[in-house]
Amino acid sequence: MPKIRYMDSRTIDAVEGQTILEAAIAAKMPHMSECGGNARCTTCRVQIVDGLSTVGLRTPAEEAVGARKGWGDDTRLACQTKVLGDVAIRPLVQHRSDVFTFNLEESDQPAGKEQHLAVMFCDLRNFTGISEGMLPHDIMYIVNSYATECSEAILQNDGFIDKYMGDGIMAVFGLSDNQPGRICRNAVRAGLNIQDTAARLTKRLGDDFQLDFQIGVGIHYGPCVVGLVGHPSHRSFSLLGDTVNAAARIEAMTKNFEANLLISSAVFDQAPNAFVVEPSQDVPLRGKDELIKLYPVTGLAEDNTLLLVQQSLADILPHRREVGLHFYQLLFERYPDYRPLFPDDLDAQSVTLMNMIEATVVNAARPGDSLSGLRELGRRHAHYGVVKNESFDHVGECIIQALADLLGPRLTPELKEAWEVVYGTVANAVSDGMELAKP
Ligand code: HEM
Ligand code: FES
Repeated sequence: MPKIRYMDSRTIDAVEGQTILEAAIAAKMPHMSECGGNARCTTCRVQIVDGLSTVGLRTPAEEAVGARKGWGDDTRLACQTKVLGDVAIRPLVQHRSDVFTFNLEESDQPAGKEQHLAVMFCDLRNFTGISEGMLPHDIMYIVNSYATECSEAILQNDGFIDKYMGDGIMAVFGLSDNQPGRICRNAVRAGLNIQDTAARLTKRLGDDFQLDFQIGVGIHYGPCVVGLVGHPSHRSFSLLGDTVNAAARIEAMTKNFEANLLISSAVFDQAPNAFVVEPSQDVPLRGKDELIKLYPVTGLAEDNTLLLVQQSLADILPHRREVGLHFYQLLFERYPDYRPLFPDDLDAQSVTLMNMIEATVVNAARPGDSLSGLRELGRRHAHYGVVKNESFDHVGECIIQALADLLGPRLTPELKEAWEVVYGTVANAVSDGMELAKP
C-alpha cells in the first residue's frame, strides 16, 4: 500500500490509483480543498518533495492550471494527482488567506493593476493613552488578541489583511471579486463583526486590564493600484491610491462622529438598501478640499444570517473538538442505528465535520460556486452506507442541540434560526451530491 508522507506532519496510507486528496480525506488528514476537488480553486496544491516518478501524469484540467500559473513539475494539484507508490509532499496553501498572495506571486501581471476595491482601516481607540504604564508583555497580549479576532472577521468575509501597523489594521475586500455590492456588503459585515469583537474583548479582558475596548473602523470604496513592490528577492503585496488614503482618514473621523463604524457614500451607494445607518454628514477629509459624505453604520438592513453565524463562530470554534464529539454522542444516543456506520475513533471525524461547517460559513461570502465542495462531500456520502433522506433531519437536530448545549442562553432564537438556515443549505447541497452519485 503506497504511503504519503506529509512533511512536518504524519504519514498516511493510500490505495494505489487514489488521488492525494482522496487519500487525505479517507485518513481524516486536514487538506485544503475549497472547490471539492474540481481543479478550480488550486488550494489543494502541493509540492512533491520526493517521489515525482511514483505519481500519475497531470490531468488535462491540471495541465491547463499549471501552464497558466507557470508551475514547475513538482507543483501539483492534490485532487488531480494519482498516487502510484510512496511519495512525500508539502501542502503549499495552509490557510485560505494564503491563496490570494500565492496567485499574485504566480501571475505574470505587470507591476500595477487598477481595481475597484473596498479598503478598511481599524484602530483600537484611545489605546496609546490607555497603554501608558502597562507592562510591554501585557500590551503585546492585548494587541495580539485584538488583531487575531479582527483578522478572523476580515478573513471570514473574503477580506485580505494588507498590514498591521501597531494597533492599526489595514484590510482590503474584492481582490478576487467584481461585484461592487457583494464587496461592500462583505466589508461592512466584517466591520460589524469587529464591533462584536470589541464587546467580546471587553468581556474577556476588560476586568483584568480595566479596558473598555472600542474599535474604530473606516471603509471606503474606489479604484486602487494593486501589485507587488520591492526588491525581486523580497517583494510584497502593495495597495496604493487615493482610496487607501481616504479610508485611513475616514477611520480617523470615527472620533469626531462618536461612531465606531463609518462608511463613505461610495460604499453605501453600492448596496443602498443593505445597511442600517444613522444620518449622514458631509465632512472635509484632512488634506482634501472636497467634502465626503459619511454614514455611521449600526447594522444590516437585510438578511442577518451570515453575520449572526459568523459572530457565534468565535464562541464555537475554540471548542470544535468537544462540540463535534458531543454531536456524535447525541446522534448515537438518539439514533443508535447510525453507530456502526462510523469509525470507532471519532476525534479526527469530529474536527473534520466542524472544519467543513466553518468552511461553508466562510465560502458563503465569496464569489463562485460555494457549494461545489459540499456536493462533492455528498457524492462521497453515497458510499458511506445507508444515508437516507430523513438522516439529514436527524443530523441537523443533533448539531443544533450540540450548539445549544455549548452556547446556553447565547443561542438566542434568532441565532438558532440562522444556524438552521445554514445547516439547511449544507444538507441540501450534500444530499444533491448524493443524488448525483446514484447510478
Ligand atoms: C449535511 C450534513 C453532513 C455533513 C456536513 C457531513 C460531513 C461529513 C464529513 C466532513 C465527513 C468526513 C469524510 C469526508 O469528508 O468524506 C463525513 C463522513 C461520514 N458521514 Fe457525514 N455529513 C453530513 C451528513 C451525514 C448524514 C445524514 C449521515 C448519515 C447518518 C452521515 C454519515 C457519514 C458517514 C457514515 C461518514 C463516514 C465515516 C467514515 O467511514 O469515516 N453524514 N461526513
Ligand atoms: S483544485 Fe484541487 S481542490 Fe480545488
